[in-house]
Amino acid sequence: MNGSIAAALRGTGCSVPERVIPNDWFTNYVDTSDEWIRTRTGIRERRYVGPDETASTLAVTAARNALVAAELDPKDLDLILCATVTPDHMCPSTACIVQGALGCRPIPAMDISAACTGFLYAMSTGEQFLRTGAAKKVLVVGTDVLSRTIDLTDRNTCILFGDGAGAVVMTPTDTPDHGIRSIKLYSDGAAARLVHLPGKVTLQPPAGEKQHEHIWLNGREVFKFAVRRMIELTQDAIQDCQAMGVNIDLLIPHQVNQRIIDAALETIGFPASKVMVNLAKYGNTSAASIPIALDEAMRAGRAKPGDTILLVAFGGGLTWGSAIITL
Ligand code: ACO
Repeated sequence: MNGSIAAALRGTGCSVPERVIPNDWFTNYVDTSDEWIRTRTGIRERRYVGPDETASTLAVTAARNALVAAELDPKDLDLILCATVTPDHMCPSTACIVQGALGCRPIPAMDISAACTGFLYAMSTGEQFLRTGAAKKVLVVGTDVLSRTIDLTDRNTCILFGDGAGAVVMTPTDTPDHGIRSIKLYSDGAAARLVHLPGKVTLQPPAGEKQHEHIWLNGREVFKFAVRRMIELTQDAIQDCQAMGVNIDLLIPHQVNQRIIDAALETIGFPASKVMVNLAKYGNTSAASIPIALDEAMRAGRAKPGDTILLVAFGGGLTWGSAIITL
């Protein structure tokens, strides 16, 4: 392990489906309104995949965009990590499908499952490969199609989610104070039932019970958990940044609910002008939420070379985590 080598973000990309689902669409299925969804979540619309799109098709487009931004060819990659809780299949992994579709060399490719924190888990795994020298060019993708998991009779949950993918290409850097400065990851499986996406898993349902298929969450409890974790993670990162002698130029939180973000910012006293929020357009895209917001921030010039950014995520598992990165 070479202590002076860090992982730098060399290019970002994202991909969202074309089909826009406005809040009003849900009034066809449940007792809700555009006004309720807007004021309680901040979401105005989200994107849903079409019949031929999946987590892997979105991931491939996001990955291609990140490779173009990084000025690299798919054959340059040494490792693909794909964070998703909505893989096309349990096997092959979504990462292997991406590897094949991009036409990469026979490099390692694997999925990582940590729900809305998945992108940070995958980024941290990629960072280890880069720091040890085991890989020089790593593709990290967060992709999810939660529209395929929603229960259109459950108004508490169905309105929250959208589909998308975001990607970064990471390469090693020996420039001092550059790249990933710290990543912290956490989990609490004791609270696993608060966010539940059973899918077609091997767990045998109790006798007489049908296997659940839809995502389900305890919104009120997850709301409190998310505010608490966003406060803790951000306050901790602010202290770490003070010790490093840097300021946070942009905070990119998991895009889940405007009220969660506002409540946390108010407690911390962090300026809203330094926070990237795009959830009005996409809703909660799970593992894709942070890399989509990161890519939009980079392309809009809100995050520039030399800036220090803080990524903060929390979600199913329960899982949570943060990353401090100097671009
Ligand atoms: N339209 C109208 N009314 C609604 C809707 C809706 N879509 N959804 C809930 N309500 C009603 C409830 O039934 C309730 O009515 P009642 O008082 O008659 O019982 C009322 O609104 C208030 O319900 P609350 O649950 O208290 O509403 P809250 O303000 O907490 O908002 C929400 C609910 C939006 C789900 C919020 O709790 C939230 O955002 N939680 C976080 C969820 C999340 O995204 N977690 C991310 C993890 S997911 C992952 O990791 C994959």
